[in-house]
Amino acid sequence: MIILGIESSCDETGVSLVQDGRTLLAQGLASSMDIHAQYGGVIPEIAARSHIESIMPIINQTLEQFSRENPELSRENIWDAIDGIAVTYGAGLSGSLLIGVLTARTLAILKNKPLYAINHVEAHVYANFLVEPQPQFPVLSLIVSGGHSQLVLFKDHFNYTLLGQTVDDAIGEAFDKVAKILGLPYPGGPNVAKAALDGDPYKYELPKPKVQGDYNFSFSGLKTAVLRASQAAIGADYRTPSTELPQRLTERQKLDIAASFQRVAVETVVDKTIKAYDEFKPASVVIAGGVAANQELRKQLKERLPIGINYAAPALCTDNGAMIATLGCYKAMQNAAPADPYSLDIQPNLSM
Ligand code: KG4
Ligand code: ZN
Repeated sequence: MIILGIESSCDETGVSLVQDGRTLLAQGLASSMDIHAQYGGVIPEIAARSHIESIMPIINQTLEQFSRENPELSRENIWDAIDGIAVTYGAGLSGSLLIGVLTARTLAILKNKPLYAINHVEAHVYANFLVEPQPQFPVLSLIVSGGHSQLVLFKDHFNYTLLGQTVDDAIGEAFDKVAKILGLPYPGGPNVAKAALDGDPYKYELPKPKVQGDYNFSFSGLKTAVLRASQAAIGADYRTPSTELPQRLTERQKLDIAASFQRVAVETVVDKTIKAYDEFKPASVVIAGGVAANQELRKQLKERLPIGINYAAPALCTDNGAMIATLGCYKAMQNAAPADPYSLDIQPNLSM
């Protein structure tokens, strides 16, 4: 079972071929992140335009890589080896999603292949099925990205329960906002993590948010606490605009604030993951989404979880085509009904 996966929900155009939901055969990625970096955040129109420019070249590049590694497949008959197409149809930016979905629909009709509509957040979890040994059900998954913070218990493929989620900001969003307060470049998450390496994680006392629901999260209060701590650190009051902070904070203060924020943000999700582990005793725990690349998160989970985690490579944690193709393989292998290539629509607000 070989599936071509297409991802275009945000600023990354990802394409990949995955076999049997466990073997990565070929992949290509283009990112418009460098352009967005100049604006300090993703500009939806620029992201959509970049997908238009890169999607066909990335698909062709991925197919060429596959045919180079399998000389018996010429570039002409390569589609004979592909069993279906999987594409992200939500959640994400409308303009970005449209490019991937319309491309996948067109290819499915042209090449006469079944088309599988993929939930981006669910697919993040499936990046872990590309790591050997594969996760065993029941799987507890901590999904931490720029748009989501969720704990989900998978009893089996396509049979899952949402245990809890953020009631306000996602954890990745909090990393990105803290980066702005500190004047660190976009994308914020990796840059806060880098600054935190040289900071004192106990220098600033930041509150761990309390929320209703055993497994829900909240990050907007923590972000505000970082703002207040930064204002206090320079001896200014709460009316001081956050735009003044990057110039007025010392390097030392920035590193310590980054480290203190990261410790508390990560502890918040790890506390709930451990609680869910104790209650549900899953066979495997996986982490998924862009923030799963965070080394402090991996370190804290290693120290506190009674079982080990097989981590996916950071490039499989951030948005990519392989996770889409992997989930597509399981849909195809479990005989899930394909989508109609003439009518599949995007769902920007799709949830799990
Ligand atoms: O999953 P992803 O690539 O896109 C979404 O679906 O949102 O996640 C992007 C998020 C951003 O907020 C980014 O700052 C964060 O993941 N991120 C990180 C790290 N790498 C990416 N956050 C903390 N530490 C990292 N190393
Ligand atoms: Zn994502």
